[in-house]
Amino acid sequence: MNSPVSNVTVGTVKVARLTEGALDAVVEIHMAAFPEYMNAQLGRGYLRSFLRGFLLRPEGVAIVAMSESGQALGYVAGAPVELLPEMNRALVPAASLAVCLRPWLLGTARIRRTAWNRVASIFGRRSEPKAAPLLPMPTLSLVSIGVDPQARGRSVGEQLMKGFEQEARARGCASLRLSVYPENAGARRFYERHGWVPFQGTVPPGDAMYYSKIF
Ligand SMILES: CC(C)(COP(=O)(O)OP(=O)(O)OC[C@H]1O[C@@H](n2cnc3c(N)ncnc32)[C@H](O)[C@@H]1OP(=O)(O)O)[C@@H](O)C(=O)NCCC(=O)NCCS
Repeated sequence: MNSPVSNVTVGTVKVARLTEGALDAVVEIHMAAFPEYMNAQLGRGYLRSFLRGFLLRPEGVAIVAMSESGQALGYVAGAPVELLPEMNRALVPAASLAVCLRPWLLGTARIRRTAWNRVASIFGRRSEPKAAPLLPMPTLSLVSIGVDPQARGRSVGEQLMKGFEQEARARGCASLRLSVYPENAGARRFYERHGWVPFQGTVPPGDAMYYSKIF
């Protein structure tokens, strides 16, 4: 399933498959784009393992947007929904080490909640029931998208989204899904502009909500 992402060049931005060589730059973009989120708080070592999982697995999608001079500007990563519990399981050693080195993180309610939801998902359950949209399968989950704060508003995100959708279609996916915190108004506007639809199910307080897109 390791079909190549077609290179899309628009203006000075080129969208291509993420390589090991660009991984550290993408880690830095994630750190800058999500400073208060759990993955960034767990540190660069954990984040590298997290992002590398999408790059190494044939079913994973990992795309980077580069400037003409070869500077990484943004990335998007995803995987088939049914693969996510296994990917979370593979991250347990890296996550455990990161938490041992930063035990104070468990004092943050959101991080505690995200960590607990991940552990629950590994065992095929959630800590609190959260309805998910019923979507035609196969469904590709967009797990993370981020653009360097310096490069925002220049359609880098748009090109990444186009690359991600193109890849999903090339793999025969029938739908896309993602989670976003309800208060992330900028990202929600971005998704809605790209045809994603919010799922109207109940969201437990402090939890993320689903968006989906059916092809
Ligand atoms: C969401 C995100 C990926 C969009 O990337 P982008 O490259 O800025 O997107 P585009 O240029 O294609 O789209 C332009 C949008 O950015 C806005 N924008 C313009 N200049 C901007 C700037 N300097 N900073 C931020 N946004 C800007 C545009 O106004 C437009 O949004 P609008 O609906 O408010 O008009 C990016 O904002 C980001 O990395 N956010 C932080 C990480 C995040 O929240 N990811 C999603 C989590 S689920």
